[in-house]
Amino acid sequence: TNRTFTMLKPDSLEKGNTGAILEKINAAGFRIVAMKMTQMSTKDAETFYAVHNERPFFRELVEYMTRGPIVAAILEKDNAVEDFRTLIGATNPADAAEGTIRKLYAASMGENAVHGSDSDENAEIEGNFHFSGREQF
Ligand code: GTP
Ligand code: MG
Repeated sequence: TNRTFTMLKPDSLEKGNTGAILEKINAAGFRIVAMKMTQMSTKDAETFYAVHNERPFFRELVEYMTRGPIVAAILEKDNAVEDFRTLIGATNPADAAEGTIRKLYAASMGENAVHGSDSDENAEIEGNFHFSGREQF
């Protein structure tokens, strides 16, 4: 499809980077079709990141993602999933390309500023995890 799902993670809000990151997203041609500020519960984060539950960093990831508010959004653009992952850059900001959101705003692999869905199927699942049908425009 032409939609992806993103979260500005707690470190982005703590550092006051929300506006700057949303500006980059807009400038790259994504249209916001759903958006809210919310805080994930431990259960929410465990469910959202269930695919990683055997990984050594899982508890750290859940702690990080629940420690403060996030901004969740659904974004629309041609080739949204792939183009958004290009815009955010590699998982580890040390490996992220110049000008990418993670290169600009992420501190480390553990605190990497933003999430971007990795497939059309997951974009749909993740968007529906955070937004009801009435909240998606
Ligand atoms: P997302 O867009 O957030 O899904 O990132 P990604 O697709 O680039 O990475 P992946 O799905 O493999 O990992 C999900 C998240 O787990 C990452 O964004 C990091 O926040 C965290 N993470 C991944 N690897 C590590 C790690 O080695 N250490 C720690 N502390 N966190 C990690
Ligand atoms: Mg991922």
